[in-house]
Amino acid sequence: MYKTHTCGELRAAHIGQTVTLAGWAHTRRDHGGLIFLDLRDRDGLTQVVANPASAPAAHAAASQARNEYVLQVTGLVRARPAGSENPKLATGAVELEAQAIEILGPAKVLPFQVNDEMPVDESVRLKYRYLDLRRERLQRNLRLRHNVVKFMRDYMSAHGFLEVETPILFKTTPEGARDYLVPSRVHPGAFYALPQSPQQLKQLLMVAGVERYFQIARCFRDEDLRGDRQPEFTQLDLEMSFVHRDDVLAIVEGLYAEMIPAVAPHKRLAFAPWPKLPYREAVARYGSDKPDLRFGLELYDLSQIMAGSEFKVFQQALGAGGVVKCLVAPGCAGYSRKDVDDLTTFAKEQGAKGLATLALTAGGVEGTAKKFIRPAEVEQIRALTGAKEGDLVLFVADAAAVAHKTLGALRLLFRDRLNLADPNLLAFAWIVDFPMFAWNVEEKKWDAEHHPFTMPKQEHLALMDSDPGAVLADAYDMVGNGYELASGSIRIHRRDIQFKIFERLGLDEAEIQKKFGHMLEAFEYGAPPHGGMAPGVDRLVMLLADEPNIREVIPFPKNQAALDLMAQAPSPAEPKQLAELSIRVVEPQPAAK
Ligand code: AMO
Ligand code: AMP
Repeated sequence: MYKTHTCGELRAAHIGQTVTLAGWAHTRRDHGGLIFLDLRDRDGLTQVVANPASAPAAHAAASQARNEYVLQVTGLVRARPAGSENPKLATGAVELEAQAIEILGPAKVLPFQVNDEMPVDESVRLKYRYLDLRRERLQRNLRLRHNVVKFMRDYMSAHGFLEVETPILFKTTPEGARDYLVPSRVHPGAFYALPQSPQQLKQLLMVAGVERYFQIARCFRDEDLRGDRQPEFTQLDLEMSFVHRDDVLAIVEGLYAEMIPAVAPHKRLAFAPWPKLPYREAVARYGSDKPDLRFGLELYDLSQIMAGSEFKVFQQALGAGGVVKCLVAPGCAGYSRKDVDDLTTFAKEQGAKGLATLALTAGGVEGTAKKFIRPAEVEQIRALTGAKEGDLVLFVADAAAVAHKTLGALRLLFRDRLNLADPNLLAFAWIVDFPMFAWNVEEKKWDAEHHPFTMPKQEHLALMDSDPGAVLADAYDMVGNGYELASGSIRIHRRDIQFKIFERLGLDEAEIQKKFGHMLEAFEYGAPPHGGMAPGVDRLVMLLADEPNIREVIPFPKNQAALDLMAQAPSPAEPKQLAELSIRVVEPQPAAK
């Protein structure tokens, strides 16, 4: 070893010992005579003093060193002079009087400083990710991620789950995104698909009799990126045989209840047990299927109260089968015309035709809807919503989906603006009873809301042809603080039902056979009832680390354009490789202006 101790280890008890440390020059201060270095390794910082009189060679090396040089320092541990102790540093009682300093690795001038947390452009951080990872913030996140994954492994093992690795080179596994394809050299023109999740494989493991499976699984999805989405990400993927929904939920709820205090003791769980909200109720009350339940600010349905309204905007929406819904922004009655205009612009960006407001002021009712809403209606609104003087009521009249999306987004806007959510609270909850199908407007067909392997509710099987939109599934999400943190379902284990679902999704028999024949066949050889789920590891760690996006908790993430800026991936392949793979590249057309 190059070191006898870590840079975080030395205490007063070590005074008088000769030790060797190795690490990076975190800071360097040249006082003309003495040179002070803070030497850093993974475990902490130790102050090194190089004295030209007592150790001229060590001092010469320290003169040469710059920030982020890698050094090995041998010296005597001594007490810091009285008054110069640093109580903020674990090693702050002592310093190392250098006897020998060796430069193990010089460093060029850095593109950004590692020793402070000054904001740096993200593209520079990603290009020099190995430097970014040296900074304390990302070191902390790496450690947290390790602790989370370790806890998951230990918990799952303790509950009888077997960790099984499944292939990365596989066949299309639909989860709603595009596939990443890998060309086969030995089978020209044929491609593997990287799994969007191990969904099919874990179900096949249930057919194989594994009964309880888990995997820290990498998933690959070619989809539009956002702050909480990466093209490759990690799930705690799990599957269980002979279980009902609540058996699966209990395993995951138990995991989080034990894990959070262990890995993130500053966080508090809002609920025990977690509430179970039916999908429709969540959307109706919070305008989202991943509601942030740390605060109230619920949506209210005014469709009945407004059934006889004179307001044309409301009449039209209700006449077209839509709804009138509202949200009460506490204490916002004093909003200016401009404030309300800005909110209206925001509402329109969400798809609403407009936003109507009522301000309940000391002097009476104001706002854009004032003229159109009768005093009796105002009273009914107050009674239903609990709105009081000083509050601003925001109305959206539209198709239910538009009203929910808009008011759901406004709800989060007021969360942030009015600081309604405690950052240290984790409001975990279950959303249950998802619809089985979602109507794909562009392609005019039904898609699976979760994935095609999800079991429709027994009592809804009969509706599959007559009213697919009304079929609910035995599918569930775990949500927390406005994020979808996990998804799962009870699966289909019968060939006939699985076949019917594929047909409903618009696949013909030949396609079903080609894509999923192996699944259908497996179900014919004794498939147990089974179900499972997959918590996203990245999103959870992001939340626990108080980070604004998952790139901060992934060691080597892609940027928003799915590029690895450090290695410049993806990059063109060599002509020789392409020839071996029987691939010819069609030059991309220049993008239309
Ligand atoms: P689903 O597609 O909902 O379900 O994914 C499960 C969880 O994985 C996380 N997640 C992501 N995290 C980062 N970047 C992404 N692009 C991304 N996509 C998903 C989310 C999400 O809740 N096979 C099913 C699970 C099952 O049914 O058991 C599946 O993959 O936290
Ligand atoms: P208008 O009659 O179109 O001038 O609209 C009157 C007020 O109602 C304006 O403040 C609009 O922003 C608002 N408004 C228009 N359409 C809607 C809608 N669909 N839901 C709620 N408010 C609306």
